[in-house]
Amino acid sequence: MANTHVETQENPKSIQDMNYFELLAWLGIGSSHPGGFPATLKNLESISISKDDLVLDAGCGSGLTACHLAKTLGCQVIGIDINEEMIEKARQRAEHEGVAQLAQFQVADVNTLPFPDNHFDWIIGESITVFLDKEKVYKEFYRVLKPQGSLADLEMAILHELPPQARTLMEACYGQGTNPLPLEEWEDILKKAGFVDVEVRNPQALINTNSNLIFNELKKDWVLVKDLIQKVTNTPGLYRRLQQNANFMKRYKGYFGYGLICGRKPIPPEPPKKPSIFNYLLNPIREQLGKLPLFSAELFSYNKQSQ
Ligand SMILES: C[S@@+](CC[C@H](N)C(=O)[O-])C[C@H]1O[C@@H](n2cnc3c(N)ncnc32)[C@H](O)[C@@H]1O
Repeated sequence: MANTHVETQENPKSIQDMNYFELLAWLGIGSSHPGGFPATLKNLESISISKDDLVLDAGCGSGLTACHLAKTLGCQVIGIDINEEMIEKARQRAEHEGVAQLAQFQVADVNTLPFPDNHFDWIIGESITVFLDKEKVYKEFYRVLKPQGSLADLEMAILHELPPQARTLMEACYGQGTNPLPLEEWEDILKKAGFVDVEVRNPQALINTNSNLIFNELKKDWVLVKDLIQKVTNTPGLYRRLQQNANFMKRYKGYFGYGLICGRKPIPPEPPKKPSIFNYLLNPIREQLGKLPLFSAELFSYNKQSQ
C-alpha cells in the first residue's frame, strides 16, 4: 500500500487525516469557492464597497479576495480564518502585493468573532457558512456589523433534493456538516438573524460555470501555482483525494448552484425616551400640586360651572 504520510515540516499530517480546509491550506488554493475568482469579481461589481469602508473577509483562506479589495479600492480589510496556515499565506500575499498596511489577517473563529458590536461596514464571505451552523454565524455577523452595514456571502446552494448517497459522499469530500441549502432557505436564515433587504444576487447553476475560465484565473494566482504540481507529484494519495472531490462534483453538479446572499443590518428602533432629570425632579411636585383643590380638575370645572 502506498505511504500517504507526508513527513515534512510544512505538512505533518497524512493526506487522509487532513480535513478539507487543511488540504486547501496546504495546497495554497486561493479561490476555493463556487465560480472561483471570476465569480468574486462579478459579485464585487454588484455591491458597493467604498474606500472608507472597513471590511471583514470571514473565512478569508489565503487572502486573495481581501488583497484584491485592498489593492483595487484602497479600503481597510481584516481577513480572519480558523486555519493558521491560511493566515500565514494571506499575510505573505499581502506583503508580496504591497497591501500589508490595508489588508490584515488574524486567526479567529467566525462563531465567536474577536470584534466589538457595530464594528464593520461590510462583511464578505465566500464558501464558509455552508460548512457551519448558519444561524449562529449570521447572528455573529449581524452583531459585528454597523447599523446600515451589509453582508454579501457567496455560498453553494442546492437546486434539487440531493439523493442520500450524494449527501454521504459530499460529507466525505468536504467534511461533516457540509450543508448547501436552497437559495430561499439561505435568505430565510439571513432574515431570521435580523437582516433586511435580503436578496440573492448573481444566482447561477454550477453546470453553467466555465471551468476553463476559472482554471485560467487560477493560473494567475502565484501562491497556487508555486508548488502545486510538485506536491501532486511527490505526495502519494493526494491525486486520489483530489480526484474523489472532482468525481463527486462531476457526477452531481446538476444538483448544485450558487449565489451571493445579501442583507443589510437595519438601524435599531429608538429606545423609549428616559425622563429628563428636569422632569424627574419636577414630576413629584406636579403630582402633589395636582392633589391640592385649587389645582384639581374637579375644582376647576366646579368653579367654571358656578360662574
Ligand atoms: C472553502 S474555504 C474558502 C476560503 C476563501 N473564502 C476562498 O473563497 O478561497 C473555507 C475557509 O473557511 C475557513 N473556516 C472554516 N471554518 C471556520 C471557522 N469556524 N472560522 C473561521 N474560518 C473558518 C477554512 O479554514 C477555509 O479557509
